[in-house]
Amino acid sequence: MLRDSFGRLVDYLRLSVTDRCNLRCLYCMPPEGIPLKPVEEILTYEELLRCVRVAVSLGVRKVRVTGGEPLVRGGVVDFIRRLSAIPGVADLGMTTNGIGLAEVAGALRQAGLGRVNISLDTIRRDRYAEITRRDRLPDVISGIDAAVREGFSPVKINVVLLHGLLPGEVDDFLGMARDKRVEVRFIERMPMGCLPSEGYVSADRIRDRILSLPGVREARSEEPSAAVRYEVRGFAGTVGIISPISRKFCSDCNRLRITADGRIRNCLFARETLDLRSVLRRGRGDREVAAIFRKAVITKPEGHDLCAGGGSPATEPMSRIGG
Ligand code: 5AD
Ligand code: SF4
Repeated sequence: MLRDSFGRLVDYLRLSVTDRCNLRCLYCMPPEGIPLKPVEEILTYEELLRCVRVAVSLGVRKVRVTGGEPLVRGGVVDFIRRLSAIPGVADLGMTTNGIGLAEVAGALRQAGLGRVNISLDTIRRDRYAEITRRDRLPDVISGIDAAVREGFSPVKINVVLLHGLLPGEVDDFLGMARDKRVEVRFIERMPMGCLPSEGYVSADRIRDRILSLPGVREARSEEPSAAVRYEVRGFAGTVGIISPISRKFCSDCNRLRITADGRIRNCLFARETLDLRSVLRRGRGDREVAAIFRKAVITKPEGHDLCAGGGSPATEPMSRIGG
């Protein structure tokens, strides 16, 4: 078991499999994109699988594949199949922007993927094109419908709260939760280096709106979750709020992250990362790979210092960390 110096059990590993993305979300990337890592610096699937085997031997049981956009990396379905076959990987998920998901949802499900989180900050086509700088909303909606149809459970919709959110847009998403078997989660935007000075939109207003719905009640979660979830009478899905800033949840954090270029990041806001790639490529044994995971856990910071007024932003773009 991996326990950090604050007593938290670390059993969740997030793998960024690529720093590439087919969108250019305003809050994530400048219009020209960010400098991409040369392909030889990106971990191979073999290397990632080895990391997961070692991590599982240390007590990790939950794995999530992220990016960039994971579906743009070739061979990702086969990678999921091999990941899900690792004994001890009890829970396997992916976070995607949903583009191209409709085409591969069935194959991913068959390969053993259990959960999908789809990032979607608006369901108005013009606003979507503004925020992501690409006119791809219909692809994402088909991706969501395919994910529900294929039986992923749950299908979560991650909605980052942005300035310029129109009042009716919260209701658009409530309508989605009413009509589709999805869990819509409104997420306070964390400062990640792009749009740093904009401040953040507190989720409080959204909470009030949710609580005003007839037949609403707070849902019990079977598992520890950063989200406060609500069930609403007559809704096929649920709604939730994730407030890393106004209700910090670092004390429950159980995660480690591997960046696409093979560094272990033990906190989104950590100033330093550990060089896993060199350990993997220097031909060292699994004992040394395990040692670097242990070191990452022992040095995991207590949390971030974000607050309504600011705090230290993350030092790395989200597209390299994967959320
Ligand atoms: N703050 C909060 N969430 C973010 N995401 C991307 N950038 C931020 C941010 N600055 C979310 C995306 C996606 C996941 C990878 O992280 O919407 O769902
Ligand atoms: Fe791509 Fe996600 Fe960044 Fe948007 S937030 S540009 S979907 S990596």
